[in-house]
Amino acid sequence: MKYIIGNWKSNKNQNEVSSWFDQFNNLYSQNKNIDLNNLEIVLLAPFIYLPQVKSLVSQYNLPLKIGAQNLSPFQMGAYTGEVNSFQLADFCDYVLIGHSERRKYFHEDNDILMKKVIEAEKAHLKTIYCVGDAKTNIPDTISIVAYEPVWAIGTGTAETPDKAQEVARIIKEKQSVKTVIYGGSVSPSNIALYLGQEDIDGVLPGGASLDPSIFWQLVTNVHS
Ligand code: PGA
Repeated sequence: MKYIIGNWKSNKNQNEVSSWFDQFNNLYSQNKNIDLNNLEIVLLAPFIYLPQVKSLVSQYNLPLKIGAQNLSPFQMGAYTGEVNSFQLADFCDYVLIGHSERRKYFHEDNDILMKKVIEAEKAHLKTIYCVGDAKTNIPDTISIVAYEPVWAIGTGTAETPDKAQEVARIIKEKQSVKTVIYGGSVSPSNIALYLGQEDIDGVLPGGASLDPSIFWQLVTNVHS
């Protein structure tokens, strides 16, 4: 199984979400011959669009899973402005934890990330835990580790597939993690190079997930 996990970050409005799905559905329905069997395609949408995304995925019967980009470190209760794991579980299968933008702009440290991991597990969400190197501590129960070197995110300069492979190998060896994906300037022209590496089980594209035709190209270029 290979993962393509699109991270929309804080992008799109309601109309743009609808039009992304209209276009993605057109591409998908015109290319039903493409074998998606060994792919898990996930979209990480802003909280507020998760209900809309869920209903569009089911309306069009698309082979897409849904995830959130963050979650509350607390349970249900008096935590103004937070969205907790049980609320997310109504809409999502996955949740992203510890993205470098959360660590940088929202000062999320290992303690808070651990609380988020525990909350995600209580609601049976699959966790995608981001690290910027092979040294960062990874909680034991993570489903997927995303290796994302900070300098490669949103810059158009990706880590070389060889180096990404080496970091993925070390993460698997040292932290007994089964699934490692790579993120940082993944595009239709480099996706196959990452997925061809022995220890890289998927990719986490940000910018390349925003346009449905580019996202579709990621899917079709998996083996190219
Ligand atoms: P990028 O973002 O593909 O735009 O570099 C990746 C990420 O931050 O997850």
